[in-house]
Amino acid sequence: MLASHSQLSLLRAGLDSGLFAALRKAKPVEAIVSETGYAEDLVRAWLGAAAGHGLVERRGDAYQCGGLPAWLLEDGVPESMRAMLDQADLTYGPTLRALPELLRGGPRPEFGGADASRRAALIPRALEGRALSVLARVPGARRPSRVLDVGCGYGTYLAGVLARRRDALGVGVELDADVAEGARRTLRDRGLAQRGEIKTGDFMVFDLGLGSFDLVLLNNNLHYFDAQERSALFARVFEHLSPEGTVVIQMPLAAEGALARALGSGAMLATFDLFLRSHANLHGLPSRDTVVDELRTAGLIEPGWRDVVPDGSTVFVWARRP
Ligand SMILES: C[S@@+](CC[C@H](N)C(=O)[O-])C[C@H]1O[C@@H](n2cnc3c(N)ncnc32)[C@H](O)[C@@H]1O
Repeated sequence: MLASHSQLSLLRAGLDSGLFAALRKAKPVEAIVSETGYAEDLVRAWLGAAAGHGLVERRGDAYQCGGLPAWLLEDGVPESMRAMLDQADLTYGPTLRALPELLRGGPRPEFGGADASRRAALIPRALEGRALSVLARVPGARRPSRVLDVGCGYGTYLAGVLARRRDALGVGVELDADVAEGARRTLRDRGLAQRGEIKTGDFMVFDLGLGSFDLVLLNNNLHYFDAQERSALFARVFEHLSPEGTVVIQMPLAAEGALARALGSGAMLATFDLFLRSHANLHGLPSRDTVVDELRTAGLIEPGWRDVVPDGSTVFVWARRP
């Protein structure tokens, strides 16, 4: 228990201070101290602790970055990895520490703030490459011509679909203004700004005035809506779908199978569910069957689902408008 808690803090301290960056090549303590200007006793002690936890390797008198931090420093490692570490320490930590008080009926805090929202939008990107290739095989999502991405985050799913379908047009709606600006940047950077537009606002009250879509995406955001709000959400999605249009929902699930247990994703998602329920404005993870029933109630037909990862901890659920 102590080890896992200390490991995360030692890892984040080494990344934030630049100590891991200084250790890309093996060096003796004196070289690290003269390069960073840091207090020698603390550098020595951090090296000892980090080496003890396998985050730093010792070679004679020299120290070098261990495998995990070295990988985190590589170019092209998704920002989502850093966001996950930071969210676990800075956002999960205080929430779980407040649990005794919440269990006794204390007021549940609102989730939000620029940093936590930014990290929440970055984290799902860890699965994005895989999710996009699974999405391309979902019936009704293969050849869309008008795509609406609800709660589009940094716009990377919208960009992924538009890049695959060269004549498709897309709209993303995002509640958080800074994140929405990031989504506009994504479309610009990928040369897709002519075919994709990002609207800032609440999808539930927004007048899109843009007609209907043959593909509506809801990726990783059902937990922003409670059961009642989800029925209003699906009714609104129905309104924005053209006849035979498809809604595809990507959702994490509290997976309980043997693979989820072995990989640790079962424990991770169960903790995520607890984290969500500890906030006034977030809601526990619904089951796949609940969402399928709710889609049917909203008038959508022919529901289907497919795992995004084989342990069943993230799934796409879809249905179409008649
Ligand atoms: C966890 S992020 C996922 C972002 C993106 N869909 C992805 O999978 O990478 C959920 C996003 O939904 C947005 N969101 C939540 N409720 C919304 C609403 N009612 N209207 C628009 N955006 C919403 C949040 O601001 C947040 O950026």
